[in-house]
Amino acid sequence: MSQTDDARIYDVHDLPGLAFDPFLWESLSNAPVSRIRLPHGTGECWLVTRHEDVRLVTSDPRFSRDILGRSVPKMTRHFIPLDRAVSFVDPPDHARVRSVVAPHFTKRSIDQRRRRAHLVMEGLCRDLEAAGPRADLVSRVISPFALAMIGEVIGVPAEDRPRIRDWAQTLLTRARDDAQALRAEDAKQAARSYFRELAGRRRVRPRQDVMSAMVAAVDAGRIDEEELLALATLMGLNGWHAVCNNTANMMYVLLTQPHLMERLRGEPGDLIGPAVSELLRWIPHKHGVGQPRITTEAVEVGGVLIPEGELVYVSYVAANWDEAVYPDPGRIDFERQGPPHLAFGFGPHSCVGPLLARMEAEVLLSTLVGRFPSMRLAVSPEDMKWQTDVLIRGPVDLPVTWSSTTVE
Ligand code: HEM
Repeated sequence: MSQTDDARIYDVHDLPGLAFDPFLWESLSNAPVSRIRLPHGTGECWLVTRHEDVRLVTSDPRFSRDILGRSVPKMTRHFIPLDRAVSFVDPPDHARVRSVVAPHFTKRSIDQRRRRAHLVMEGLCRDLEAAGPRADLVSRVISPFALAMIGEVIGVPAEDRPRIRDWAQTLLTRARDDAQALRAEDAKQAARSYFRELAGRRRVRPRQDVMSAMVAAVDAGRIDEEELLALATLMGLNGWHAVCNNTANMMYVLLTQPHLMERLRGEPGDLIGPAVSELLRWIPHKHGVGQPRITTEAVEVGGVLIPEGELVYVSYVAANWDEAVYPDPGRIDFERQGPPHLAFGFGPHSCVGPLLARMEAEVLLSTLVGRFPSMRLAVSPEDMKWQTDVLIRGPVDLPVTWSSTTVE
């Protein structure tokens, strides 16, 4: 790829709280389709930020995900997904792999899980009450809830689920040095070995879970064993990590903007869906960028001609703050109109589990808001601790307090 002098360096730093990334804001305003360099890997690539352009890049077949074996500018020292991950497969083969798990993530399947989600939350809330009236919401409720949900969907036994959390925390980082990058690689391989062993157990004794469906697909020749292992690792680790951090961020927003909390408490039934959507749009979920695409021919994007063979990243976070689509994007407005947000991506590679993630957020928020009407942050927002060197942003913990007499 050609080098230019004007490529900007996107050296992703930890940002305070949930502050919007100034580099993305600058890109949206002044350079919506631009050349950048990243901290790791070699060469230059493109960053696309506007809503319309991001939708084009992520849905047009001239942008391929077949990037394995190339030297790619990237945010991390290590390579996060396993090589056979669905992330690097183009249509139509991509649909072959995803169709194996898709029936478990339809609206019908997720609606059937909602009752169970409420039961799990009820149990966690009882434990929270017993631990209160001051406790950490992340370790007491948010993390175990997300872990239980994805664990049940995939079929990971309860006693093994904390390992998913530990692998995700070790792998999904920006690894400061080579030692950390090595630990990340080890975590990825440990997850792969674990899922291979779990697949073996389900082959002998199948159940109604995603792992059993994937094993049956391997045995029927629809996918191979490595595709199973890569997909299980992606779903397991993302399924906990993304939901845990995103719902923790949502609770942080509600606790620090009491007028939003009050509105939700006033009309929980009708408002929870739109509120979760708007929070998904507003929360700057990710630090930096995810996986790139490569142009298979020259393509014009937002008036800029991107030549063939160039690596292109999109920012869904930036697209969700595109002023042309979402006026006053920094304001959280539960009545906001306009096109759907892109927090779960767009096109064939969009998230496998958006309905599961939304359902979890709706159950978690509505239960906490309803059961703990006096809940508030136990520290000032300035004293909150945020995770560092992570790919998905979120607080270390969420210390809250409530007056026990008001628990209903
Ligand atoms: C709030 C929670 C979540 C958010 C914000 C989120 C967001 C995303 C985004 C932005 C992508 C990438 C789209 C792209 O590459 O262009 C993605 C992909 C993916 N997500 Fe999620 N996700 C969440 C929860 C989940 C859950 C619960 C699962 C469990 C099944 C999951 C599994 C996956 C998988 C397997 C992919 C790769 C899809 C592919 O390349 O075909 N995610 N997600």
